[in-house]
Amino acid sequence: MSISPLRRFSLWLSAGMRSALAWGGDWIWARPGIARWIYPTTAETREEDYRVHNGAMFAGFHEQERMLADRPRMAFYAAAIARMIRPGDRVIDLGTGTGILAALAARHGAAHVYALDHSEILTHAQALAVANRVENVEFVATHSTAFTPAEKVDVILHEQMGDCLFDESMVANVADLRDRVLKPGGRIVPSDFEFYCEPVMVRDSRVVPFIWELEVQGYDYSSLERHRPQNPGYYHLASTDAGLVDHFLGDPAPALTIDLHTVNPEGLPAELVIRRTVIEAGRLDGLAVFFRARVGDDLSLSTNPLDPRRAPHWGFRLLRTDRQVFAVGDEIEIRLSVERWTELSSWRWSCVRQRGASPLADVAV
Ligand SMILES: C[S@@+](CC[C@H](N)C(=O)[O-])C[C@H]1O[C@@H](n2cnc3c(N)ncnc32)[C@H](O)[C@@H]1O
Repeated sequence: MSISPLRRFSLWLSAGMRSALAWGGDWIWARPGIARWIYPTTAETREEDYRVHNGAMFAGFHEQERMLADRPRMAFYAAAIARMIRPGDRVIDLGTGTGILAALAARHGAAHVYALDHSEILTHAQALAVANRVENVEFVATHSTAFTPAEKVDVILHEQMGDCLFDESMVANVADLRDRVLKPGGRIVPSDFEFYCEPVMVRDSRVVPFIWELEVQGYDYSSLERHRPQNPGYYHLASTDAGLVDHFLGDPAPALTIDLHTVNPEGLPAELVIRRTVIEAGRLDGLAVFFRARVGDDLSLSTNPLDPRRAPHWGFRLLRTDRQVFAVGDEIEIRLSVERWTELSSWRWSCVRQRGASPLADVAV
């Protein structure tokens, strides 16, 4: 059957529009001023997008079971709750999910736990609490910013950490409750966090070069370099693969530390400058982004890709860089600039080889 001229024209038109959009998208991404104008977003639309995405992600069983089956995560929270919840405490469990942290707090003597969640998983949390005969927990289907308890609470309990620490709006959500409904001297569990951004070499067997660096069976891809994607998402590699990273080039140290009792969400730095002296030579393939949560000096939860006790359900992020080889003693200066910490697409980074030694300069908030 022959294709009608009208159909042929519409196919031609839609193919043309698709390629113009693909080409234009890259061109626009390369020009943030124009991108902001073409793809307008406001604080409200961003917040709404986050709520819809987050609520849907946690509504089903899959995310919840990954978190519950993460033994280092659950051991950390069980120990933190045993240490930090005192008999008679009034507690908010911010983002209760299946209600596990609220149940542990009630078991440790909390007088009243408000278990908040904006996702539909809350219906299951309520039924689970009945099945497990948990008392003293009041489930509230709400976004935390819309919740005010009858009286202020002693503790805010939460697990709001994204793979890159900030990408589940932990700081804004906790700070909002802290400023409105936490008693003076009240506790936030956990409150101390370290954010890491470390230059790494990827294991040779796991390296995926940029496409323009490839030659496959004599077939050369280098001509694609002029089409280098400008969309930053292309340069993020999310992984839970414990075998991905071969080694850190430098000695890992927090690039940023925060205490949720005092941090101001507006006060997070717009740029981090991280300097590392290379202690193990190798090829720089990217920057590994991960975090550590601490309760006191002896209790911690880590997502470090090289820590055998890392909490496995969290991914870590590899911010891909152009590959360079470094020798022991070389200095690397990393700059991570961030428009919005919650939005990974607004992060930009660079790595520069420094001549001559310079002191380590990490930023703490
Ligand atoms: C990472 S899960 C943790 C679940 C549970 N606390 C646990 O430890 O297993 C985060 C939960 O917080 C909920 N959530 C995220 N932001 C929220 C907010 N601002 N208000 C209420 N619920 C929120 C999500 O729907 C999700 O169920």
